Amino acid sequence: MTDQADSVEAVRWQGNGLQLLDQRALPQEVVYLDYDRAGGVAEAIRDMVVRGAPAIGITAAYGVVLAARTRFAQSPEGWKQAIEADLQALADARPTAVNLFWAIERLRGVIAGIEGDPEPVLLAEARRIHEEDIAANRRMGELGAALIESPCAILTHCNAGALATGGYGTALGVVRAGFASGRITGVYADETRPWLQGARLTAWEMVQEGIPVTLQAEGTAAHLMKQGRIGWVIVGSDRIAANGDVANKIGTYGLAVLARHHGVKFMVVAPASTVDMKVASGDDIPIEQRSPDEVLCLAGQRIAAEGASAWNPAFDVTPAALVDAIVTERGVVLNPDAGKMRAMMG
Ligand code: MRU
Repeated sequence: MTDQADSVEAVRWQGNGLQLLDQRALPQEVVYLDYDRAGGVAEAIRDMVVRGAPAIGITAAYGVVLAARTRFAQSPEGWKQAIEADLQALADARPTAVNLFWAIERLRGVIAGIEGDPEPVLLAEARRIHEEDIAANRRMGELGAALIESPCAILTHCNAGALATGGYGTALGVVRAGFASGRITGVYADETRPWLQGARLTAWEMVQEGIPVTLQAEGTAAHLMKQGRIGWVIVGSDRIAANGDVANKIGTYGLAVLARHHGVKFMVVAPASTVDMKVASGDDIPIEQRSPDEVLCLAGQRIAAEGASAWNPAFDVTPAALVDAIVTERGVVLNPDAGKMRAMMG
């Protein structure tokens, strides 16, 4: 199972450049797109070729490598100044997932100390970010699965799997570890309108692994919980504030409210790179607004009545008070609050 988990690669450095699995084409087609310019990488992040907070961060890190190569070739003396425009373009690609800014800042710190050709040094750092993410996911998988006391099915939202990370996944890493140890019996997956990450990506990943997956329309969750079919809701995050508030795919907050009402536990699984201690509470997390067309249309076809408008926030914020556990590679925080988050993050 582990080998199969590793075979789902959303982001890879191949030979001399970056390859991204085009997640817009899944599950119908498995196609990798090639990138050798930072501008193309920024566009790929914005257009959802690659998505999921940790995967976006890793992609941006490789994007910085490509930018450094181009800028150094143009001007071995002036590249450090010139690359700032590329770093800005990458940072502007999407606003909510803090891993994007975290990765760019980490490479900016490395850039400051570089003398000579920047590519080998930056590539080594980008690879480290990638490898650390996979290691963090495996650790979180163990920690999160250990919280599940009696075997149960779980509900997940969006895709927080290998496709959304360097590999193995955050929420789906817990599912992988929990299924292997008999603690998780199967997965209910919200289809996750409007992008259908649940139907297209989570279902695909689970089928690859042989983990039983049942898709449901968004509105099914309350009925599912009322029937006692799940023990936990397990999700990832795009940004966790210093007080433990959690930004994640739109619809997550509603699930947390429902879970509390029905006595279902709510677990958030995310690496420390997703925790933003500079943001005091979820109120300060920028929420991406995407095109109304994503809601009004399906597969390029208008489905909504002509004349209707649409509101399309891509994320919402779940208050810390509704979260039972935040799992990072640094440890588990039960009933998170500002003090516990500070202690965990050091
Ligand atoms: O819009 P997306 O597909 O990038 O949103 C992704 C999510 O909301 C994920 O749950 C989150 O990034 C965690 S991924 C490990």
